[in-house]
Amino acid sequence: MDSSPKQSQREKLEAWLRYYDDLNLGEFYTDRRTMGNRPTKRLAENAPATMAAVRPAIASAPLKTAPPIPALPIVNAPSLFEAVDRVENDTLERIREDLGECTRCRLHKQRNKIVFGAGNPHAELVFVGEGPGHDEDVQGLPFVGRAGKLLTQMIEAMGLQRDDVYICNVVKCRPPENRKPEDDEVATCSPYLYRQLDTIAPKAIVCLGGTAAQALLKTKDSISRFRGQWFDYRNTKLLVTYHPAYLLRNPNAKGDVWKDLQKVMALLGLKTKKASQ
Ligand code: URA
Repeated sequence: MDSSPKQSQREKLEAWLRYYDDLNLGEFYTDRRTMGNRPTKRLAENAPATMAAVRPAIASAPLKTAPPIPALPIVNAPSLFEAVDRVENDTLERIREDLGECTRCRLHKQRNKIVFGAGNPHAELVFVGEGPGHDEDVQGLPFVGRAGKLLTQMIEAMGLQRDDVYICNVVKCRPPENRKPEDDEVATCSPYLYRQLDTIAPKAIVCLGGTAAQALLKTKDSISRFRGQWFDYRNTKLLVTYHPAYLLRNPNAKGDVWKDLQKVMALLGLKTKKASQ
């Protein structure tokens, strides 16, 4: 019998895997960047199959060989905490209630109103921005300032109305001076965003700018690495485009954004309006 440290390590690992399998926690322990495009939305359904696929690989693979890591992260396997965070029969109302008059991070100190999100709770398309600005903080609604007007135009150019889509942000309180939210603020607030997205279950998510993309794709890479490409976010198509505030400063980038939105329109089966209509 092999009683080497490697063997006992393997036995311990297998025991843990059986334990997590029993808990239906699926593949949280795997390197999520190496998972490819496997559907993971229905955890309970998928866990046994994925466990079966993973276990023989672990049993036969030499412990030292690490699989190659692709350049871009494909986020589709929930972590342990995401798996536990999935709330059965969740609703936007319940998520808002759970958020309450939040004081979980420093952003609450200077905020006027929490900006939870607005729009169709059954939307096929969700836009995710960074965080509320001044106008949003006053009104408690997302994207109602200058950048918001441009977002409305973008939505209408797609042949939709604002009420057809859902709009929300990574952080729900305005960062002072419209600074970027800090990592710990994003980490504190993003579970509510994940729940919003799980609950709405859209066909497509459009990240407006790098902060939303980084929060959902769990990367620090710059937007130039992933703008205009489709990603898988927990079995939902996710595309990253420039933030409308960036477009206000760089109108030349509008063409790129329109190309990105046309990809979303193709996915949703939306037709470009003719000029005469
Ligand atoms: N910018 C954002 O990222 N979100 C808003 O709601 C408004 C401006």
